[in-house]
Amino acid sequence: MEKRLRDIAEEARRSLDSVSSLAELDEIRVRFLGKKGELTRVLRKMGMVPAEERPRIGQLANEVRDVIEKSLAGRIEAVKERVKEERLRQEGIDVTLPGLPVTRGRKHPITLVTEEIAGFFLGLGYSIAEGPEIELDYYNFEALNIPKDHPARDMQDTFFIEPEILLRTHTSPVQVRAMEKATPALPVKIIAPGRVYRRDDDATHSPMFHQVEGLVVDRHIALSDLKGTLDLFARKMFGIGIHTRFRPSYFPFTEPSLEVDISCVMCGGDGCRVCSSTGWLEILGSGMVHPRVLEMSGYNSEEVTGFAFGLGVERIAMLKYGIDDMRLLFENDLRFLQQF
Ligand code: DAH
Repeated sequence: MEKRLRDIAEEARRSLDSVSSLAELDEIRVRFLGKKGELTRVLRKMGMVPAEERPRIGQLANEVRDVIEKSLAGRIEAVKERVKEERLRQEGIDVTLPGLPVTRGRKHPITLVTEEIAGFFLGLGYSIAEGPEIELDYYNFEALNIPKDHPARDMQDTFFIEPEILLRTHTSPVQVRAMEKATPALPVKIIAPGRVYRRDDDATHSPMFHQVEGLVVDRHIALSDLKGTLDLFARKMFGIGIHTRFRPSYFPFTEPSLEVDISCVMCGGDGCRVCSSTGWLEILGSGMVHPRVLEMSGYNSEEVTGFAFGLGVERIAMLKYGIDDMRLLFENDLRFLQQF
């Protein structure tokens, strides 16, 4: 039996020396170590070995199995390595070949316009403030002087999540958050670009759209500051020859409130289809911050004043680029987007 074991070890060694494929190696594994393999067959006959010999023979059998297993593993590694090298040699990749060109992406018109607006105000020393799109009723309405039963709520058809939680209908709540954060420090001088949501959907309204809010609070801020700033802004966005017109309006959070128009970018003010023959295009809402809003956010309205404005980015983009349907901005049609 001892001889048989040594023979098996020798046979396995010789067989292993001459193989060159993984399949052959597997055959050898089955032949020597498998359930019906040579080694197993010998071990089945252990019963015939005299009891005092058994430990020694048993140990020898274990050693033979270990040796075969180890050499098998070694051979498998070697064969795999050889196969890999062979494949690499055959593939012959030329790493000096030039790569395939990837066409460069571009910015969405909404991003372009937002960046241009932000660039203008950053240049005037404003910083950028942010607020959540899922907002509290308090910030979106209450703190902007729009109580629960106020009819001005009808102007902004709102997606409510819970009675006190909603998708913000405008970026104005960021005014309140910015003032709460800054008070009592002065000045507050921020813009807040971001997404807003209303239950609206047609060629000029989308349930999600973008606004940029602006807010300046300091001592001695006057209506003339508002007019100078927004007039300069309009000319920066639409060209030096553009005229502005300030119309009285109403917003609960400003007093007085103004709507800002620019002379029509299509006809220059003569009157056309785009401006409904008026020669003017409305571009934003603005006003002097209502004293009650200042007080609710922690400022003394006897000491400080402020102006604010809010504009729709889609509207500015449409006027600037002559886009006649807002839905184009959200359909992600490359033929459209690649024009910017
Ligand atoms: N939040 C207003 C809206 O979405 C726009 C607006 C008007 C913002 C006047 C202002 C403002 O900051 O002063 O309709």
